[in-house]
Amino acid sequence: ILHRAIAIDGPAASGKSTLARILSQKLGLIMVNSGSMYRAVTWKVLQRGIDPNNREAVVQALRDMELECGVDGMVSTVKVDGVDPGDELRSEEVNAHVSAVSAVPEVRECLVSLQRDFLKLGDVVMEGRDIGSVVFPETPYKIYMDADPNVREARREEVGEVDSVAARDHADSRRETAPLKIADGAAILDTSGHTIESGVAAALEILRGQG
Ligand code: C5P
Repeated sequence: ILHRAIAIDGPAASGKSTLARILSQKLGLIMVNSGSMYRAVTWKVLQRGIDPNNREAVVQALRDMELECGVDGMVSTVKVDGVDPGDELRSEEVNAHVSAVSAVPEVRECLVSLQRDFLKLGDVVMEGRDIGSVVFPETPYKIYMDADPNVREARREEVGEVDSVAARDHADSRRETAPLKIADGAAILDTSGHTIESGVAAALEILRGQG
């Protein structure tokens, strides 16, 4: 298990998914976007008309839903009750409530277990908030990505997402269970001044050093 996972963590829009996608292609790893899983649970909670801040109701909804993770091509997929929510995972509604849902310990416990199960399908590059600290603490390959808050807001606007990145980061960093933090052994990669190419090169350099 030790050397089968690359963990990429960091705040919203720090460039994690772009890096994970490219590493997946270059290294032949399954790319797992763990945020999609938290988004999928949130999507279902909202669809059922449940208050995302009502922890008991969220836990009950979690027990009532069937989550199914898989891989299509080399990219992780998630279905809730047989449905792939698609673009709705990135809706304004989900953006606004995903931090509340992902702060619920039972939600995290369930999703962390599903995230570890991806190793049954192959080696992974997984991005999120707690991958190096909680999901795969033993992997030597850990990168904590960061970027200037203005750069991150601009990146979100570029892809047309209405999202308060700052509010999510604040909530994600301050929650009690598995907050966003720099995992033990993680190397920090600040992408503010990087192009995609130079960021990937820097990441590969870091990973070589960690191996
Ligand atoms: O990565 P993405 O921005 O899509 O993640 C959406 C939200 O899911 C985050 O703001 C955070 O609340 C939650 N998340 C988490 N732990 C992870 C990945 C995402 O709590 N490993």
